[in-house]
Amino acid sequence: MAEMRVPLLDVKAQYATIREPLLQAVESVLASGQWILGPAVRDLEERLARYLAVPHAVGVASGTDALLVALRALDCGPGTEVICPAYSFFATAGAISNNGARPVFVDIEEATFNLNPNALEQVITPRTRAVMPVHLFGQSADMAPIMDCCGKRGIPVIEDAAQAIGATWRDIPVGGVGDLGCFSFYPSKNLGGAGDGGLITTRRDDLADRVRMLRTHGSRERYKHERVGFNSRLDSVQAAILGVKLAHLDSWTAARASHASAYTQAFADLDGLITPIDAGRGKHVWNQYTLRVRRGSRDGLRSHLSEKGIGSDVYYPIPLHLQECFADLGYRKGSLPVSEAATRESLSIPVYPELTSDQQGYVVETILNWCHDN
Ligand SMILES: Cc1ncc(COP(=O)(O)O)c(C=O)c1O
Repeated sequence: MAEMRVPLLDVKAQYATIREPLLQAVESVLASGQWILGPAVRDLEERLARYLAVPHAVGVASGTDALLVALRALDCGPGTEVICPAYSFFATAGAISNNGARPVFVDIEEATFNLNPNALEQVITPRTRAVMPVHLFGQSADMAPIMDCCGKRGIPVIEDAAQAIGATWRDIPVGGVGDLGCFSFYPSKNLGGAGDGGLITTRRDDLADRVRMLRTHGSRERYKHERVGFNSRLDSVQAAILGVKLAHLDSWTAARASHASAYTQAFADLDGLITPIDAGRGKHVWNQYTLRVRRGSRDGLRSHLSEKGIGSDVYYPIPLHLQECFADLGYRKGSLPVSEAATRESLSIPVYPELTSDQQGYVVETILNWCHDN
């Protein structure tokens, strides 16, 4: 097959398919002069609440802010602990720390890269204020035992659903399983804006009210501040862009799932290359297709792909408990071995909706040839 360029993600290819309606939506917000909150944000919040089957969806400035605001709404501050997996994007733990709480890391399941519920009970203390599972790469965490363990103790659950919009646990869209759900509209997400954006979902009226107050400086009434909150609003222009894209989300997700299944078939039974598992907990939305490359050869495969013009990335090369900024928490190398192994072995390859069958064929052929020679 002739060499070609296959990026890890191609946002421009997606833009080309919806250029006209996007430009019209942006023009309409600009012409309205309502650039902060306003009808575009309200409309998107209502549509997303329906899409995610929750009564409340609140737009915020980013996925990181969604986590910050959610943690603040549950009073996860100094003297409290919040449990999260050691294998995630930094924001998961950064938001806990930025609220003054202590991140407590647990290991992940080898098969799904998600928080291992069996490791949860032993790290719960009287200071545990929340548990924050992450639905990594587009697949729900194992919510039954997590909800059961937290429910018995009255500990709230914040779902970091940044990578998993449209995924479900059983039949329930993620973000509506726990007390609060946090989503990101960063451009690489399945529903990505042209910049930053985020969303908080909840079934609880009290928390919806608190989150709305916290996103506008802790104020319900102008210049009266009940709590110290944030300036964290979703831009109207982003809301309009996301509104156009939402209509395509299900077909984009279906394309991701079809690419994922083609990869999994092509790479079945390869020695040393493990394909990602759909654990059947609900709908997987394949934000990433993440291989495990055994025998210390992950970086070799990555360089080979790069030489052949194929984009890939390591999500994530350092586990959260071994990040320099968390050195004072006292974790050591070997503390959370499954997360540490994942950082050495994982490699994400292109699975974006616009990937053509020629491009996918080329990625498959390049990886199969590499496996043959290594
Ligand atoms: C798991 C996870 N949590 C939180 C975030 C933070 O989202 P944002 O980049 O929109 O701040 C991201 C994405 O970047 C993420 O992947």
